[in-house]
Amino acid sequence: MIRQNRSNIFLLVAACLSLLALTLPGLVAQGGETVVGTEYGEPIQGLTALQFELFRLGLEDFLEVEDAGEGLGPVFNGRSCAECHAVPRIGGSGTMAEIRAGILHEDGSFEELPGGTLFQLFSIPVHEVQPIIPLEANVIAQRQPLPLFGDGLVEAVPDQVFEAMEDPEDLDQDGISGRAHRVVDRDSGETRIGRFGWKADLSSLFTFGAEAYLFEMGITNDLFPEEACPYGVDCELVALVDRVADPEDGPERSTGLRGIDNFANFLRLLGPPPRGVITEEAIQGETIFTQIQCSSCHVPDLQTGANPIQALSIKRFSPYGDFLLHDIGTGDGIQAGEAKPEEIRTSPLWGIRFRAPFFHDGSASNLNEAILRHAVEAENSRQMYEELSEEEQKALIAFLNSL
Ligand code: HEC
Ligand code: HEC
Repeated sequence: MIRQNRSNIFLLVAACLSLLALTLPGLVAQGGETVVGTEYGEPIQGLTALQFELFRLGLEDFLEVEDAGEGLGPVFNGRSCAECHAVPRIGGSGTMAEIRAGILHEDGSFEELPGGTLFQLFSIPVHEVQPIIPLEANVIAQRQPLPLFGDGLVEAVPDQVFEAMEDPEDLDQDGISGRAHRVVDRDSGETRIGRFGWKADLSSLFTFGAEAYLFEMGITNDLFPEEACPYGVDCELVALVDRVADPEDGPERSTGLRGIDNFANFLRLLGPPPRGVITEEAIQGETIFTQIQCSSCHVPDLQTGANPIQALSIKRFSPYGDFLLHDIGTGDGIQAGEAKPEEIRTSPLWGIRFRAPFFHDGSASNLNEAILRHAVEAENSRQMYEELSEEEQKALIAFLNSL
């Protein structure tokens, strides 16, 4: 961790902000103010001077490149958060895909190997504890990093909003049966609606940051105090080669903030992506987007509940996603909590103009290809897309490129 001299006011603030981890469930209020997108990588508008400073401290830790002396590894995917979250700017997505693996049985059930589904790409020292995909595994999946812009707003959406959108039994018979992913948050112990990650398997940004610190970078912390040790790796050797006492993340002397507090502040206060140029063609494209039911899953508008951070409280925003789990035939074969091997969270489309390649595994190289691969629950929607005139398809793509 970077150590700098700052006044102890941060100790106080740290205590206040940790309260935010318990983002208030909030009431589903109507008529919130619409949030304006910021430049990529900037904080959300309307922060107090203190919140702005917390964002800045969070950004510093997000950028910080760690080494073994600071606890990096023994197994890890990257040396800093920004290494994977920087396209088109800090906080965005990235090009390094991570690897998950496990066993998918013929009856469709998934068996997780001891140590979890993630197999880190690197290790320190290089050879002795390097995870290797085990021969038993018959599913090997790639996952692209996700952009983090506007995630504070997503976290601030009350659970009831997602619950109101789900239709697991497809009672309205539109062929679409989104499911909310109920997860127990490791930090608060509460059951909440998961909304982060390709499998919507986490509900809190504090927890996501702490989990990433351990599983992406190998840095143990108060929430995840033990080193990751994937199946096949000698866990005693992992303990032996790591000389930094756990938890490796601790409060900085100057601010009282831990790395995991800083990540949470950065993630919560990072602004939503700016909308691109909205042409006549894009406006026509949005009408088609609604007509052919893209908007049934890629829901245009959501609203946050009451939140201790004023800039996130009762705000309307446009993520173009319902954050529910769907089967559109692209599933990665990996079970994550209650998310089945064939299910993936609807990818929110805000900022999509900077995101190629598409899908969780980056397997679709352009928007047309991504749309044409929608099936199962999105079968009707894709068919309607195929029946559009060339001009209408172009308008729809122009709309997506304005997000
Ligand atoms: C090696 C690349 C890599 C590094 C390093 C990395 N991430 Fe990620 N990040 C990913 C990938 C891949 C995903 C998607 C994971 C999934 O769903 O399985 C992701 C997803 C996320 C999400 C969920 C975003 C959303 O909207 O659903 C958050 C939050 C996040 N990362 C924060 C962090 C933080 C904080 C750090 C540093 C402590 C970090 N990441 C380090 C690759 C990385
Ligand atoms: C039944 C729900 C559903 C419908 C209907 C639907 N989508 Fe999707 N969409 C998804 C899911 C789930 C994903 C993520 C798939 C993956 O990554 O494997 C996705 C991914 C995408 C992506 C790629 C996003 C990224 O982050 O890589 C685009 C673009 C997209 N959809 C556009 C559309 C358009 C345009 C329509 C209408 C023709 C549409 N979708 C209809 C659920 C849906």
